[in-house]
Amino acid sequence: MTPGSVLAEFVAAFGHEPAGVWAAPGRVNLIGEHTDYNDGFVLPLALPLRTLVAARVSGGPSTVASVQEDGETVRFDAATVVPADVPGWAGYVAGVVWAFREAGLPVVDLELLVDGNVPVGAGLSSSAALECAVAVALAELAALTPDRTELARLARRAENDFVGAPTGGMDQMVSLYGEAGGLVFLDTRTEEIEHIPFDLAAQGLELLVIDTRAPHALVDGQYGARRADCARAAELLGVPALRDATLDGVDSLADERLRRRARHVVTENARVLDVVGMLKAGEDPREIGPLLTASHASLRDDFEVTVPHLDVAADVAAAAGAHGARMTGGGFGGCVIALCDADRSGAVAEAVTEAYAARGWDSPAAFPAVPSAGAHRLA
Ligand code: GLA
Repeated sequence: MTPGSVLAEFVAAFGHEPAGVWAAPGRVNLIGEHTDYNDGFVLPLALPLRTLVAARVSGGPSTVASVQEDGETVRFDAATVVPADVPGWAGYVAGVVWAFREAGLPVVDLELLVDGNVPVGAGLSSSAALECAVAVALAELAALTPDRTELARLARRAENDFVGAPTGGMDQMVSLYGEAGGLVFLDTRTEEIEHIPFDLAAQGLELLVIDTRAPHALVDGQYGARRADCARAAELLGVPALRDATLDGVDSLADERLRRRARHVVTENARVLDVVGMLKAGEDPREIGPLLTASHASLRDDFEVTVPHLDVAADVAAAAGAHGARMTGGGFGGCVIALCDADRSGAVAEAVTEAYAARGWDSPAAFPAVPSAGAHRLA
């Protein structure tokens, strides 16, 4: 998939050239999991895996097609489309158009073709990549100049209120603010961004992404349930969000489950700040490994969003020499990241593959996470 191939696909689908080609990346989160909807801190990076859209303004209705969906074509009217009109993958496209309109921005109908290599359902934010690619394309084609934070809010609105997934704002922010060579340190309360250099290759390191290919089960319901637990815990503690809770406060919660949920959020926020402090102080990135592993334990024991595929991958990676390993993303399947010496990463991936085979599980996929640029125009 290249800008040229997407352009050619557009011509094949619509019979003329697009006005441009835009791209937006998927992500992994280094640390700061299930903190974004608690007004907390996250530290993701944008991946080289990305979604491309070729588009131009049309006379309407909007017509969208996707290479991944065998060229399936979906139509809707930008001026009138509402949630439930457009199910499935095209809802992420229509949802962005709808979010612009809901925000009072003038919208235009589009011809739009989607292509991408962010695996769907792997927890690498293929949905945010699609939303953000559409958002930057639509803004430019409608001659609008919202800043990146505003674009991220619009993309998230599409996900939350059109598609109906109650996610936080991390994925859209990193898809828009990603930078080659760096992490995106985001304070989700203030929406302040700081780029933290993360040149692992220079240190002989690699951040290995292990896609467990575990089937996602009950993700939506479980994610919503965790959000509700966090909101309830904050309410009982009398704080605006768990970002404001202390460990002493958390210990005072009578409900054992809520206590564990809140403890994860409070300790996870502290781990993000520790990692940021260490990286900014120029410490050897190997030193953050134990914090990654501690994050996994907290997500497993306190937040309860791991599954055996994630636990086995994280444990086996650490035993095979990774400096630290943890699940990344929402959980219940998806990916594990392992911080490895570059010359050990092949052995780490191999060890996880063997452990899966011994359990009769499908082989995982593994690739290095290289911090990459956020959404932008390609052609
Ligand atoms: C999913 C959501 C994000 C975030 C993570 C957990 O990826 O889309 O907003 O909540 O889960 O950190």
